Amino acid sequence: MKKKVLITGITGSIGKVIAKTFIDNGYEVFGTGRNSNKIEKIKSELNIENIIKIDFLNTDFKPLLPDDFDILINCAGIYDYCETQKADEKKISEILKLNLEIPISLSKFVIPKIKEKKWGRIINIGSISGSVGEACAVAYSASKAGLIGLTKSLALELAFDNITVNCINPGWVDSDITNNFLSEDEKTETLDMIPQRRFIEPREIADLCLYLASDNAKGLTGQSINLCAGLSLG
Ligand SMILES: NC(=O)c1ccc[n+]([C@@H]2O[C@H](COP(=O)([O-])OP(=O)(O)OC[C@H]3O[C@@H](n4cnc5c(N)ncnc54)[C@H](OP(=O)(O)O)[C@@H]3O)[C@@H](O)[C@H]2O)c1
Repeated sequence: MKKKVLITGITGSIGKVIAKTFIDNGYEVFGTGRNSNKIEKIKSELNIENIIKIDFLNTDFKPLLPDDFDILINCAGIYDYCETQKADEKKISEILKLNLEIPISLSKFVIPKIKEKKWGRIINIGSISGSVGEACAVAYSASKAGLIGLTKSLALELAFDNITVNCINPGWVDSDITNNFLSEDEKTETLDMIPQRRFIEPREIADLCLYLASDNAKGLTGQSINLCAGLSLG
């Protein structure tokens, strides 16, 4: 039987590619998105029906989602770049809720079934900002650092149940977030700071998710993996 994967943020630059990779490799994919137009577009692009519209900041997801999954990929996330003294309180709460509290709640939601099956995978999409810190992105970095704590703690808790939990921390990705936040000049400056002088491709994140979901990766748990073209090396 096909393994069932729940991917949040399937309408985003990275979630979409993760979904396609899992579909192409024989998994049954369920996704969540927030924007109806994007959901319809991705449904036809990926040829799947199971994309559920959820705004995690304003809706209780529990009545909207089935709870029987083998794999959970927490990918939905928001970013903000702002000096801390000027940061908007509402935005801080939204970032912490979507990027950290919702992955905890979704983990709680899927754990009973994957524990019953004695097999499961939870993969969190963090960020290099949570791993090494990022100036003027305090709430975002804190939320992603929190995901690393969640990953290690849950991995310990579920180790005996044959469930692995890992966190992938991408550096700058060739994506809408990067394109919307950086001007052309800033992109050039950013590339100069990255040892490999390139942005990570969404495909690289998707392929790592696929490996972490595989049986070959059964010994890899509780890890915070920097996928960042060398950015974390300083
Ligand atoms: N892009 C990068 O350079 C980069 C680097 C490091 C880490 N990451 C992380 O990678 C993940 C995916 O990023 P991305 O580049 O694919 O971002 P993206 O293109 O902006 O996509 C974000 C996704 O999150 C969903 N989302 C946003 N607010 C939501 C809400 N309130 N409720 C439910 N869903 C919501 C969006 O849904 P709609 O589009 O339908 O609104 C979309 O599917 C994020 O966790 C991000 O922090 C990204």
